[in-house]
Amino acid sequence: MSGQVVSARAPGRVNLIGDHTDYAGGLAVPMAIDLETVVAGRRGGDRVRLRSTSEPEPADIPLDVGDPSTVEPPWARYPAGVVAELRPAEGFTGEVRSTVPPGSGLSSSAALEVAVALALGFEGEAVSLARLCQRAEQRASGVPSGIMDQLTSIRGRAGHALLIDFTNLEVVEIPLPRDIEVVVVHSGRPRALASSAYAERRRDVEAAANEIGPLRDRPASDVDTLVDPVVRRRARHVVTENARVRAFSEALRDGDLVHAGALMVESHASLRDDFEVSTPELDALVARLVATPGVFGARLTGAGFGGCVVAICEPGALAGEGWHVRASDGATVTVDPG
Ligand code: GLA
Repeated sequence: MSGQVVSARAPGRVNLIGDHTDYAGGLAVPMAIDLETVVAGRRGGDRVRLRSTSEPEPADIPLDVGDPSTVEPPWARYPAGVVAELRPAEGFTGEVRSTVPPGSGLSSSAALEVAVALALGFEGEAVSLARLCQRAEQRASGVPSGIMDQLTSIRGRAGHALLIDFTNLEVVEIPLPRDIEVVVVHSGRPRALASSAYAERRRDVEAAANEIGPLRDRPASDVDTLVDPVVRRRARHVVTENARVRAFSEALRDGDLVHAGALMVESHASLRDDFEVSTPELDALVARLVATPGVFGARLTGAGFGGCVVAICEPGALAGEGWHVRASDGATVTVDPG
C-alpha cells in the first residue's frame, strides 16, 4: 500500500461550435470551463472506493471489475470504466466533489473520468489519457461517443478556446477576446444521451462516409449525390459545420464577434433541421437569447436531445442567466508521498 495522498481536478467543457463532427474526423471549438470535478484521497488497497458529495450512494469498485455498464449505483459506472481500462496496480479511497452539473451537456462524465484516471495514477500523453477516458465512457454508458469532451478537459487553456482537428487530434489554442462573455443556460430538459439517437446519428454519418469518403473536406456537390435523404441531411450538417468551425475560429481571432455569433446561430439551425438533435425547448431558448440586446449568438451545445445552450455576449448582457463560464486550464494532479 503506497498511501500516496492525491488530488486530481478535471474541468467540464462547453462547445462553442462544431457538434457531431468529432466522430466524423471533423473540427470543433470547445473550451474547458471553470466548473470542475475534484477527486481527492489516498492510493492503496485493492478497491476503488469513492464517496460523492452529490450522490447518496458511494462507488465501491474491485480492481478486476468486469462490465462497467452493470455497476451500481449508476454514477459509479464511469470510475468503473476507468478502472477497467487503466487496471491500476492499487486501489484508492477518497471523495468526489463536483461543480459540473450532470445531464446538462457540460461533460460531467468526462470530467469525472479524467479526474479518476489521474487520481488512480495514469501516466502518459494527453491524447492517450483522452483515448483511455473515451473508452471508459463508451463502456460505462454504451454510447459510441467521440473524444471531444475528454480531450478538452485535459488540454484546456485559461483564456482560450481550442480548435481541435479530429483527424489527428491536433489542438490550436485560440485566445478569447477580452470583451466576450460565455454563458451557458439550461433548457430545462435533462439530456438523455444513453437512450437517445446518438448511435443512430453516428451510423448515418458513417453510412455517408462509406459512400462518398471521409466527410471532412467533402464539397457540397458530393453530399448532394447521397441517395438516402436522411443520410444526405446528416452529411450536409457535418460538412457545413466544419466550414462554420473554420470561419468561427477566424472570426474569434479577428475579434469579429458579430460574425462569430451569426455562425453559432447557423450551427443551431443545422443541428435542428439537418441533424435533428434539437428540442422545442432548446429552439425557444436560442431564439430568446439571440433576441436579447448585446447577445452575438447562441446554439445548443454538446450532443443535443436536451441539455444546454451556449451564448456569447457583451459583458453583462445576460446577467442573472445560467452559468457565466470562463475558459480554464486542463486537468491537473498533485501527488504527496504521504
Ligand atoms: C457528446 C459526445 C462528444 C460529441 C458531442 C457532440 O458530448 O461525448 O464526443 O460527439 O456529443 O458534438
